[in-house]
Amino acid sequence: MTQDEMKKAAGWAALEYVKKGSIVGVGTGSTVNHFIDALATRKEEIKGAVSSSVASTERLEQIGIPVFDANEVSSLDVYVDGADEINGDFDMIKGGGAALTREKIVAAIAKQFICIVDDTKQVDVLGKFPLPVEVIPMARSFIGRELVKLGGDPEYREGCITDNGNMILDVHNMAITDPKAMEDKINALPGVVTVGLFAHRGADVLLVGSPEGVKKFEK
Ligand code: A5P
Repeated sequence: MTQDEMKKAAGWAALEYVKKGSIVGVGTGSTVNHFIDALATRKEEIKGAVSSSVASTERLEQIGIPVFDANEVSSLDVYVDGADEINGDFDMIKGGGAALTREKIVAAIAKQFICIVDDTKQVDVLGKFPLPVEVIPMARSFIGRELVKLGGDPEYREGCITDNGNMILDVHNMAITDPKAMEDKINALPGVVTVGLFAHRGADVLLVGSPEGVKKFEK
């Protein structure tokens, strides 16, 4: 089974959590693209979606699912999104696709976060995948120095401008043993827009595509 087949299996399994008549929170990435394909088969039953990126919005609109502005909804039942890494407490690293800020906003609006991944994303300790941090351009060098003080090796993501017009620093070589504390420390640096650690708002349900089928874990 390929990695993409495992992503597809997880993406389709998330359909089970989509309620009739609801507006669905939709994340970003190759796993979510499979979820969007699955959602197309139920598009007559849902009201629409709130999207976490320009890319997902375009894909949703192409298949005829109305996309609402996040300001138009007070609450979402579910938010479905992938992750770059997820640990046993359902804390995640996200932002490999640079959509972390909008992903965090939509996740915050949702009652339930359904994380869809293939089994290569499960880890004991977060940090092997470089941690993305979205920063205001003028703060890039300052934040880079501060991230070194926190024990990481930040690298400027060349040529990447986020949907919000900012930059990404990817922090390498940081074993994140206390995700909530690290999320707080990085969030507190002036000029940080969002850190791709989702620990204070982790996942509630984890669907893992694997060669043995989709494994389901709930908090
Ligand atoms: C997008 O910014 C990310 O948070 C994605 O959710 C994450 O990178 C997972 O992407 P894939 O589903 O493409 O592996």
